[in-house]
Amino acid sequence: MAELTESGSPPMLVLGIETSCDETAAAVVARDPAGSGRILSNVVLSQFESHALYGGVVPEIAARAHTESLDLLIQKALDEAGIGLGHLSAVAASAGPGLIGGLIVGATSGKALALATGKPFLAINHLEAHALTAGLTDGIRPPYLMLLVSGGHTQLLWVEGVGRYRRLATTIDDALGEAFDKTAKLLGLPMPGGPAVEKAALKGDPRRFNLPRPMLGRADPHFSFAGLKTAVRHAAAKISPLSEQDVADLCASFQAAVCDSVADRVRLAISTVLPLLAEDAPRNFVAAGGVAANKALRSMLVDLSAKSGFTFHAPPLALCTDNGAMIAWAGAERLAQGLVDDLAAPVKPRWPLDPSAAKATGAGVKA
Ligand code: KG4
Ligand code: ZN
Repeated sequence: MAELTESGSPPMLVLGIETSCDETAAAVVARDPAGSGRILSNVVLSQFESHALYGGVVPEIAARAHTESLDLLIQKALDEAGIGLGHLSAVAASAGPGLIGGLIVGATSGKALALATGKPFLAINHLEAHALTAGLTDGIRPPYLMLLVSGGHTQLLWVEGVGRYRRLATTIDDALGEAFDKTAKLLGLPMPGGPAVEKAALKGDPRRFNLPRPMLGRADPHFSFAGLKTAVRHAAAKISPLSEQDVADLCASFQAAVCDSVADRVRLAISTVLPLLAEDAPRNFVAAGGVAANKALRSMLVDLSAKSGFTFHAPPLALCTDNGAMIAWAGAERLAQGLVDDLAAPVKPRWPLDPSAAKATGAGVKA
């Protein structure tokens, strides 16, 4: 059970539920009145094996798997935190963007617990949860520049405050995680693709294949990865059948192209926000989302941030990929601002963080 804080008031205790894709997760996070957070429990159950046979996430299987395990995971999260439902300040659940079946499972469970306990309910935007995680892990407060790279999204955001985001760039076709996953699939590597490509790349030569660096040097701020993925397919087809070394070299070359392309886009975003910052304003650059677990990308971002006068922050690897602690923390941050939701709050398979952002134009725009 959480003790009193220095100010004498008890910390907020928020249960977070995550079911937007193929991870079922629940966590309890404490937030003290001064705004610092602590993870009391964080349990995640991956469904990789349930989807492996199909080479991708099957929405109906995901929703059923969430239904089967969520109750147990919530109980485990409460037990590990050493609390009961009655100790909670609020219940937060991921309500979008994501797969609608899973979102309904998590949000409905969260609403039921909120109703039964009489505690506030918070419908959390999954992207906002990724965006705010650095506040929990590194104590970073907005404003900051952020790169959000996940299986469904690739965005550069100016995080002004809780609930206030300016989208500077998005992808005009594939998300970066999707490009990793599709590259892994075409090279015969297991799911999830990102970690598999990263592992294979460790033994590969990043200079063997001269792959395109999408958007390099373009004044248009957005990302694009579909062409790179196709270039990997063509390079692989030319030398098929692939040896283990060929796969490693393709992975390393793909990752190097990704890093160069992302670096160029981040540089452009930094040059956009720098003139808006006061001389003495903190300059923080935060990366989050599953692909931010990639060590090659992280080390490129550490260097680039340092060269640009920014301090780099990213959650520890396990808190980059989907988890319940990030949902609980976003819930605590919103609750601290009085931003609670109605039990009628809908789930939203599409839910942009910056609804005012102009639509990106391109061949396969999804965001
Ligand atoms: O944030 P996340 O867990 O789920 C979504 O909200 O989409 O991100 C999942 C994505 C997947 O595409 C996965 O392949 C990618 O993150 N990923 C990685 C790594 N770990 C996870 N990509 C590259 N390198 C990694 N180490
Ligand atoms: Zn995510």
